[in-house]
Amino acid sequence: MDIYHFPDDFLFGAAISAHQTEGNNSNSDWWEWEVNKPPGKKYPIEPSGIACDFYNRYGDDFDICTQFSLNAIRLSIEWARIQPTEETFSTQAIEHYQDILKAAKQKGLKTFVTLHHFTNPLWFAKKGGWASMDAGKIFALYASKCAQAFSEYTDAFLTINEPQVYALMAYTNGKWPPNKINPYLSYFVQMNMIRSQILAYDAMKKYTDTPIGHAHQIVWYETDPFGSNIIDKVAARVLNYLNDDFYLQPLRGKLDFLGLNYYFTKRIRYLGFDNPTDYVSDMGWWINPGGLGELLRELGKYEIPIYVTENGLADSHDKYRQQFIRDMLIACGQALANGVDVRGYFHWSLLDNYEWHHGFWPRFGLVEIDRNNNLARKPRRSFEYYAKIIRERRIEVD
Ligand code: FCB
Repeated sequence: MDIYHFPDDFLFGAAISAHQTEGNNSNSDWWEWEVNKPPGKKYPIEPSGIACDFYNRYGDDFDICTQFSLNAIRLSIEWARIQPTEETFSTQAIEHYQDILKAAKQKGLKTFVTLHHFTNPLWFAKKGGWASMDAGKIFALYASKCAQAFSEYTDAFLTINEPQVYALMAYTNGKWPPNKINPYLSYFVQMNMIRSQILAYDAMKKYTDTPIGHAHQIVWYETDPFGSNIIDKVAARVLNYLNDDFYLQPLRGKLDFLGLNYYFTKRIRYLGFDNPTDYVSDMGWWINPGGLGELLRELGKYEIPIYVTENGLADSHDKYRQQFIRDMLIACGQALANGVDVRGYFHWSLLDNYEWHHGFWPRFGLVEIDRNNNLARKPRRSFEYYAKIIRERRIEVD
């Protein structure tokens, strides 16, 4: 039997983002798109509206976190609230987020604070958003304000969430605002976001000692274990390089830690993708904990702390979530045992929330939100299982 131990300071958390949970994020580009859906378009399936009303209910939600033994929470600050116009920073909004972070700290939760999680202030979007050359400078100013306002209550900052996903969804397949389909622009946006992370890092460091990282989604590409050819192997190597080193190398020295968001493994067969279909989430995503293990092993070479800043599944009946959590944590435990500096795991998500253009049907929460009953919070059974692992700080594997 193998036993995987988690050190006392290992962070067991859950993650959320502002637009997906707070409600009424009306000064953002996403809100504008949601409420002005063009006739005949499929997406967005529904508007975010009140979302989970986390804006008002954060105290109760943190109580649930501690009741289920979490010692960390990852959440995001909504730029559109902090900087409602280019010329103004809102004292009221800053105080609101300070209150949220203070409440989390009082409950004993470590706070991981994302500054940009897909949504933009309307004024920024109207100026060209991330396709504008000014984006880096503008974002760095906002980031430096956040460093000044929130450092005292923040254990780690994450500058930008998943730049590659943002660029893909907003500029390659056009599903997210500003709904552009332009691969060149998409590439530019990605590079602009990398540049902006560097500018933000430097701007923030003038005001804070709090570690600064990011949250990067990395797909693990593998070949078919039952028969792969050399071409598929080369393709997997190239795709893994593009996802990880190509993106992370320029950020060397400008990240105090790596935040890894892991959802996908893609299996390559004859230069196409051919994933198993027998173990998938409600969204049809293949569940493969092995991919997390491979990525942690790969990322060890960067020799900076690693946090799994997102990992989870849509599973409305809570059918697979317990096994999923167990297997993903075993992958973390194995990486730790092999000397990789993994410091924490944040399950996506604490709450069932607004899953972007899909609306509310994908149920990612450790806690169910009953949308027919005043957004009542109902922790799922798998959350009890997660809490048990957290209390024991070990997993036994036969
Ligand atoms: C990630 C996003 C997060 C959530 C999960 C399911 O790409 O960062 O907001 O939508 O996917």
